[in-house]
Amino acid sequence: MVACASNIGDDELIKQLDKVIDPYRGNPGGLIQVLTKAQGLVGYLPKWVQVQIAEGLGVSLQEVYGVITFYAFFSLIPRGRHKIAVCAGTACYVKGTKMVLNTIRELLHIKPGQTTPDSRYTLEQVRCIGACGLAPAMIIDGKDVHGRLEPDLIPAVLEQYA
Ligand code: FES
Repeated sequence: MVACASNIGDDELIKQLDKVIDPYRGNPGGLIQVLTKAQGLVGYLPKWVQVQIAEGLGVSLQEVYGVITFYAFFSLIPRGRHKIAVCAGTACYVKGTKMVLNTIRELLHIKPGQTTPDSRYTLEQVRCIGACGLAPAMIIDGKDVHGRLEPDLIPAVLEQYA
């Protein structure tokens, strides 16, 4: 059974993935592009997606798995609707990455790499997000930077995405 993060049917999802693969069929050089589009389509990269891509591009399953696990951008597990990326770069680390992670763990009961049971949030720890002057900082959904975080400010930030 296909695990589907989308709201479209499983057969339709397989067909759509085939369409993603088609321009790169038999071309191993298209692996990263196909994985990127596949993750956009399915939400993550489960085994059935890896197999379909490996067969389509003519690469081994191990190679597909190796690329997925090499790049932090790719995920083998379902992600939440909102991605919370807590910066663990030097400036943020010194000013309170641990405090931010601990506060989020107390609020959402998840650690980096985990998703809340309601699929609302996925928590990640990342390198510098380019907002060192706002340390400690986090970025949500890859676009919303929240900085100068303190424990009592974090609930209100998360509430914006509830
Ligand atoms: S170290 Fe956190 S934004 Fe640069």
